[in-house]
Order: sequence, then structure tokens, then C-alpha cells
Amino acid sequence: MNRVHIKTYGCQMNERDSEAVAAMLRARGYTIVASEDECDVLLLNTCSIRDAAEQKAIGKAGYSSSRKRRDPRFVLGILGCMAQNRGASLLDRLPDVDLIVGTQKFHRVPDHLDSIRASREAGVPAGEAIVDTAAEAGSQNTIRDHMDGPGPQVCAFVSIQQGCDMDCSFCIVPRTRGDERSRPMDDIIRECEELAGRGAREITLLGQIVTSYGRRDYPHTGGVSPFVQLLERVHAIPGVERIRFTSPHPRGFREDLADAFRRLPKLGECVHLPVQSGSNRILRAMNRPYTRERYLAIVESLRGAQPAMAFSTDVIVGFPGETDADFGETCSLCAEVDYDMAYVFKYSVRTGTASAAMPGQVPDAVRQERNRTLLDLLRAGSLRRSQALVGTVQEILVEGPDRTGLRFTGRTRGNRVAVFDAAPRLEGSLVPVEITRASVSTLYGDLVTADTGLQTGRGPASL
Ligand code: 5AD
Repeated sequence: MNRVHIKTYGCQMNERDSEAVAAMLRARGYTIVASEDECDVLLLNTCSIRDAAEQKAIGKAGYSSSRKRRDPRFVLGILGCMAQNRGASLLDRLPDVDLIVGTQKFHRVPDHLDSIRASREAGVPAGEAIVDTAAEAGSQNTIRDHMDGPGPQVCAFVSIQQGCDMDCSFCIVPRTRGDERSRPMDDIIRECEELAGRGAREITLLGQIVTSYGRRDYPHTGGVSPFVQLLERVHAIPGVERIRFTSPHPRGFREDLADAFRRLPKLGECVHLPVQSGSNRILRAMNRPYTRERYLAIVESLRGAQPAMAFSTDVIVGFPGETDADFGETCSLCAEVDYDMAYVFKYSVRTGTASAAMPGQVPDAVRQERNRTLLDLLRAGSLRRSQALVGTVQEILVEGPDRTGLRFTGRTRGNRVAVFDAAPRLEGSLVPVEITRASVSTLYGDLVTADTGLQTGRGPASL
């Protein structure tokens, strides 16, 4: 009765939340299993960002409830964003669900499972589902435990903040994740130190709008925002070799952050900078507080700080009222920025958001076509930027064996995946790799050993 499988949908924050739930459950004596066929408890940690994401989890839950008819002791839970967004109404569609836990209540999952399990073991048939979706003060401080996870991780994720107070007209997140709340800086630093002590070399700071970190809790000092102050403190931790963060908001990219990329070498040359649209008219309708020109100025200032800067982005196609001309502006912006990578989303109506009621909803066929056009454009750009690295030596943080188990994988400072031959003892170290071949998303290369005489310009790893 204590084997739990957690299936995660959506973003890295959800992955991180699932990790935390797994750690809490292990501490409570549950076993986390990799295969859902072997579990007694199936937890779906869900995503609401687009309707398709919700439908996927609903389909899965519907399918899994048939298992309950065979095995009445089987427990099915829905956690996270869709649980928050839909609450008890999920039971109309999915009457067999036992547990619905919102985004501020992940830390309550062990207690809820204990009580479900206790009544199952006492032979009480499954009764009313437990629905726990209220807001909880301080819940941003509960997602922290890494201690119980599997072996040392080279790349670790640290939650620094939850919720979002922006009001993008398309976005469900303020509703699923609640008000913006930051964790205390000292707690975050302690967690990062602990992770570094256990072998983490790359830390990714996570939040829905990380650049707003601590804006109500800490003062700007000397023109430096609390977020940049946090970057400085993580940067000072011995053992941490790289720092990344996601997702930021363009609004947060002022001079202090551009300057951080100049001053703090552990910040790699890569920034995820969600643009959403290249048309000022559409940006205004989206309630995004910047213009195309301002966005391009941010890109320029970051490339001024680091000429090799690689950008990735999120783009929505087919927002209500988007014309061919607006879409053309998005395409031209993408060409101008020259992204390494982009997530393109077909606009999806989210009930309760401002844009759901806007006129000019774009037909699906048009959204589909714009999606295809933009993906093709971006793909060509990614390939070109990838191939430009052939012949260069890149500093790679070795993460572990690749999918085949025969070679090793890691990422460049610009966040490109590289595959090469290496030895297990190099896991977690920075090594120079000469790139010999490139596909759209992967680089292939050879470790540069001391005797080849190639230099990386940075402290060479001891081989
Ligand atoms: N439809 C399509 N894409 C969306 N996103 C957020 N809301 C929607 C929506 N209603 C995209 C945005 C955001 C990313 C995480 O998801 O691009 O940056």
C-alpha cells in the first residue's frame, strides 16, 4: 500500500514540486517507484497553462480510475495547478479521484495519504475525496527538501518564489499559483550550500517571475535589486560552478542585471527572455508592460555584456486579434534576436482570464499554420547558431551518461546540450570539448585532453 508513482506534467517548477513531494513521502516511509504499473498510489502533478495540458492529465486520470474498479485499494490523487484551478469540480468528471491537493498544499500530501491509507487498511471503502486547495501563508517555504532524493545531482533546482502578481491577459498562473511570495534569502542560500555540499555544481533558481524576487521584502542597495543580490550570494558559494534562473520577466532586466552577466562569471551566456509577441499592439492587449523596441534594447544590452549570449523565449501565436501583420512582426523580431531556442504556444483560451472574452479569437487552422511557420523559422535559426559552434572549444559541465549509456552528456555555458566520450569520474566537472558536429539541439564533440594542447581560455579541468 505504500508504493507511490508521481507523474509530472508541465514546467520545471512542477518537476521541483514533485521532487519535494517525493522527498516528504520517502521520509514518511513511502517508496517512490519509477513505474506506474507497480504503484499503489498514483499522483498526477498537473499543469493548467493550456487546455491541452489539462486534457492530458484528465485523460490519464480517467484511464487510471478503471484500475480502481479492479483494485479498490488503489489511490488516485491530482495535485498542483489543475487541482488548484478546478478544485472539487474535477470530481464531476473524475468521481474516482481520492485526493485533490492545490499548489499551496503540497506539504500536506503525506498526511492526506496516511489518512486514506489508514481507512483503507481498516477496510473502510473509499468515501468522499479529500479536497485541499485553500491558500496558505508561508507555503513558499515548504518546497525545499532535497535531502532524501536519489544520489548527488549535478544540476539542482531551487525554488525561490511562488505565484505572480502580473496580470498578463492570457495567463492562468496568478490563479493557479496565487500571489507573489518570496522565500527568505538566507533560507535559499542555506539550501544552495547544502546542495553544493552534496555535489550540485549547477543551481537553477526557479519561480514564476524570478526577476521580481524579494521586491517587497528587501531594499535595493546601491541600485542593485534583491534578485541580483541573491545572484551575488549564490555566486559566492564554493562548489557552485554555474547559476541559471527561470522564468524571468523582461521588465526585470535593468542595468543591474545586465551588469551581473558582466561581473558574475558563473552566470552562463544564456537568458530565457519570454517575449510572447513582436507586435506592440498585441503586447498591449496581452498587458505585457514593454514594447518590441524595449525588448530589443534589453537583448542588445545583454549582448553588450556578453557578446556570445544565447537567448531562448516563449511565444504565443494566435492571440485574439492577431493579424497576419502582427504575426509578421513576431517573425521579424525572432529573426532579429536570433534565438537559440524557443517554445511556441498556440493561444489557448483559459476560462477566467481577461483575453478569454476578447473579440477576434483566431481560428484553429490559422493558429496551426502560424505555429508551423514560426517553428520552421526558429528551427533554421537554431541550426545555424548550433553549427556556428563547430570547430570551437566549449566549456561543458558533465552531467552524466547520455541516453544510450555509452557516451556522456552535459551543457555549454550557453545551455546547449553536448554529447562526447568521457569517464564517470568527470561527472560534475567542467571540461573543454571541441565541437565537431551539430544538429538543431545537440552538439557532438571530443574532450580536449592536455596533450592536444588546445586551450579553453578558462581554468582547464584536470583530466
Ligand atoms: N495560451 C497559450 N500559451 C500560453 N502561455 C501562457 N498562457 C497561455 C495561453 N493561454 C505560454 C506563455 C508562457 C508559457 C509558460 O506558456 O508563452 O510564457
